[in-house]
Amino acid sequence: MMNTMQVQLGDRSYPIYMGAANLSKPELLTRHIKSRQVVIVTNETIAPLYLDQVSRHLQQYQLEVVILPDGEQYKTLATMEIILSAMLRQHFSRNATLIALGGGVIGDISGFAAACYQRGIPFIQIPTTLLAQVDSSVGGKTGVNHELGKNMIGAFYQPQCVIIDVNVLETLDDRQFAAGLAEVIKYGLIRDADFFAWIEANIERILARDQEALTYIIDQSCRNKAEIVASDERESGIRAILNLGHTFGHAIETGMGYGSYLHGEAVAIGTCQAADLSRRLGWLDNADVNRIIAIFNKAALPTQPPAELSAEKFISLMAVDKKNVDGEIRLILLKKIGEASLPISVEKTTLLATLNEYGRE
Ligand SMILES: NC(=O)c1ccc[n+]([C@@H]2O[C@H](COP(=O)([O-])OP(=O)(O)OC[C@H]3O[C@@H](n4cnc5c(N)ncnc54)[C@H](O)[C@@H]3O)[C@@H](O)[C@H]2O)c1
Ligand SMILES: [Zn+2]
Repeated sequence: MMNTMQVQLGDRSYPIYMGAANLSKPELLTRHIKSRQVVIVTNETIAPLYLDQVSRHLQQYQLEVVILPDGEQYKTLATMEIILSAMLRQHFSRNATLIALGGGVIGDISGFAAACYQRGIPFIQIPTTLLAQVDSSVGGKTGVNHELGKNMIGAFYQPQCVIIDVNVLETLDDRQFAAGLAEVIKYGLIRDADFFAWIEANIERILARDQEALTYIIDQSCRNKAEIVASDERESGIRAILNLGHTFGHAIETGMGYGSYLHGEAVAIGTCQAADLSRRLGWLDNADVNRIIAIFNKAALPTQPPAELSAEKFISLMAVDKKNVDGEIRLILLKKIGEASLPISVEKTTLLATLNEYGRE
């Protein structure tokens, strides 16, 4: 029923608890709380759905709740300050525990607030979107956006544990659910061809949110992510492959304004662009690219770049990516389905060919 997986990071190792009804198992939380002071950070959408399920087990603590506005456009330093101010007002010490209850936006801002508050306090992730459960809550990347670039301000900061309750996905809308699937599909593409084939064969069950299928994809995704993070916590090498499709995707998110494309939607398009570019380098064939486009289409994700975003605009937006070195755009591409390349810089003419031709007909 409940599955525990360890993210192996030496003295920063931590468990991921995965299963149904994990929100009603208070011991998963309390065993990681080391002082009387606890702050839950969530947002105005999630609070009415799940805050009570979490807070009712914490009445013995000095409990503070911070409810933020909902949306990627609030993933900013200004919003983060709301959390810090609330904790300061309550005289929270550096043993206080911060619990992030929400999707990737809440997890990223809260994790960064935990990293900054008095130079670092323990925090716990309770991810409530598919994307957060399979990706953002695991691995310790935290941060906020700047108007000049996404996730440009942040820190590596690992949680004490991640508590995944598959049941909370019941209230997630279809568009958000599909966006999470983009990251699930990514794991198959970058390092797990068998998992990719399993997703292709079971996409109907996944879309119907069959509990067994959901548990399987979350488990496989967390396993893949945990293995990558364990071998390269701070992204000096292999961890970069998690950014497949993300350099294109971030350009779409920034260029179209945060909130118009969901992160996972932008990543789906970006992954198709990366696949097209990989084909131009001779790594993928047409059939591979078509398989990739087809699985995103089946998952109800977009696969074509927005017409408003010209190739030149893409290039200028992609130039602020964190993987770039010395002003050169570097991309994760696919050697084959199930194997990603490390960041490589591509001839500008080849990149322009993808930007001008893929999905532009
Ligand atoms: N830190 C990382 O490693 C990492 C990895 C991937 C993505 N991210 C970041 O994650 C963010 C995207 O996260 P997201 O896709 O979870 O978006 P999100 O946090 O905005 O959540 C999506 C929407 O679903 C709502 N919601 C959350 N849980 C719900 C539930 N159980 N039922 C109903 N509604 C619910 C939210 O209120 C929100 O409106 C981006 O900012 C992205 O940069 C971070
Ligand atoms: Zn992502």
